[in-house]
Amino acid sequence: NRSSLLPLASAVVSEAELEAGGSVDRVGELSQVAGVLGCQWGDEGKGKLVDILAQHFDVVARCQGGANAGHTIYNSEGKKFVLHLVPSGILNEQTICLIGNGVVVHLPGLFKEIEGLEANGVSCKGRILVSDRAHLLFDFHQEVDGLREAELAKSLIGTTKRGIGPCYANKVIRNGIRVCDLRHMDTFGQKLEILLKDAALRFEGFKYSADMLKEEVERYKRFAEQLEPYIIDTVHVMNQYILQGKKILVEGSQATMLDIDFGTYPFVTSSSPSAGGICTGLGIAPRSIGDLIGVVKAYTTRVGSGPFPTEILGKGGDLLRAAGMEFGNITGRPRRCGWLDLVALKYCCQINGFSSLNLTRLDVLSDLPEIKLGVSYKLINGQRIESFPADLNVLEKLEVEYEVLPGWPSDISSIRNYKDLPPAARRYIEKVEEHISIPIHYIGVGPGRDALITK
Ligand code: GTP
Repeated sequence: NRSSLLPLASAVVSEAELEAGGSVDRVGELSQVAGVLGCQWGDEGKGKLVDILAQHFDVVARCQGGANAGHTIYNSEGKKFVLHLVPSGILNEQTICLIGNGVVVHLPGLFKEIEGLEANGVSCKGRILVSDRAHLLFDFHQEVDGLREAELAKSLIGTTKRGIGPCYANKVIRNGIRVCDLRHMDTFGQKLEILLKDAALRFEGFKYSADMLKEEVERYKRFAEQLEPYIIDTVHVMNQYILQGKKILVEGSQATMLDIDFGTYPFVTSSSPSAGGICTGLGIAPRSIGDLIGVVKAYTTRVGSGPFPTEILGKGGDLLRAAGMEFGNITGRPRRCGWLDLVALKYCCQINGFSSLNLTRLDVLSDLPEIKLGVSYKLINGQRIESFPADLNVLEKLEVEYEVLPGWPSDISSIRNYKDLPPAARRYIEKVEEHISIPIHYIGVGPGRDALITK
């Protein structure tokens, strides 16, 4: 089911559908294994869609990243939950939440999150599975993250200082510690000692002592016991689920423009938030994956440093930031704001092969007199390019060409049917579809579970 390959005609809601109210049941159509991935620089609102779709899936699985994700979801009573490691299916009682091998797990954070959920009446018992192959992220990784950022001074990557990069670095240089190592506490201490001593050698500000090691090992002995009921061979389990016909939803965190390979390197995250990360982070075959839904804000935001071609500087950016309350979930940092960048979005769609898109936060654009769409890039020599450049020097100097569309001067947050949207809002959506040639099946008009239009 690759409707992204179909001509645009199928992307636009039909007259008959519009007559019927414009609201279409899309969830029933989704494949057995489906995924939700971010299209921009994160914070697109993936959590909300996952939470909504999860009601129709048996399993929600995370495949990459760690507690650098900040998925905000609301239960049916409107209570807010911000999840960092626990998959966003947790509010649906029937859903199993699986943390795959590609995720880096900070156990103190995971237990804190579970405690918080339980304290708010969300039962996690028997519903969270953690891969025995997942890598453990320690407090020292977070400390090292901070020291590294401080060292880089001016050219900060702008990380969340959650230790994600240092933990993946240990994974890649092959001295990381995995969840299954918690079953061998006799050798666990030696492995941790190597990592801590390494960090002390590398960073002047990092102090190592034998007491510190002893304390951490004792702490992890307790965590090992606590985690035991959650640990499982998730590769086997996932493949069994597939054979049993269970419906699996993969929850991406961060986004393609932050991908270690495809993002604006080095201003990226350390994992693969695009389609490939699903296979490597869960141990499932590409052919088992069906629909992938790309989540894209109706405008663009970015936290931290790095290229951002359609950024709106000054007052315009401040207005969008205020309208969208664009401040980081984890760090509280103001997000940089800009127009929707269709060159970057096309690039992202090529990489992921989305079957449909979820355009979120359309409500935030209400009341703007006009809305711009970044449709092409022009290089310094005047050459127009269609692809997203790798070179940061090129990205910084290019000029974005915009199409200007009229805004709509009314609140759309209570609209639930496509046909009831103001014509200018529909025009904006259809313009994006026209450029991208992928249907926008889901339109977010507010943070709540019900604030979603399907078409
Ligand atoms: P990361 O994995 O950290 O990148 O986060 P995410 O993509 O899951 O984003 P998150 O769930 O944190 O969503 C960002 C914010 O947008 C949250 O506060 C959501 O409640 C909110 N949100 C989601 N969809 C909409 C929408 O359509 N309109 C409005 N106004 N807010 C929305």
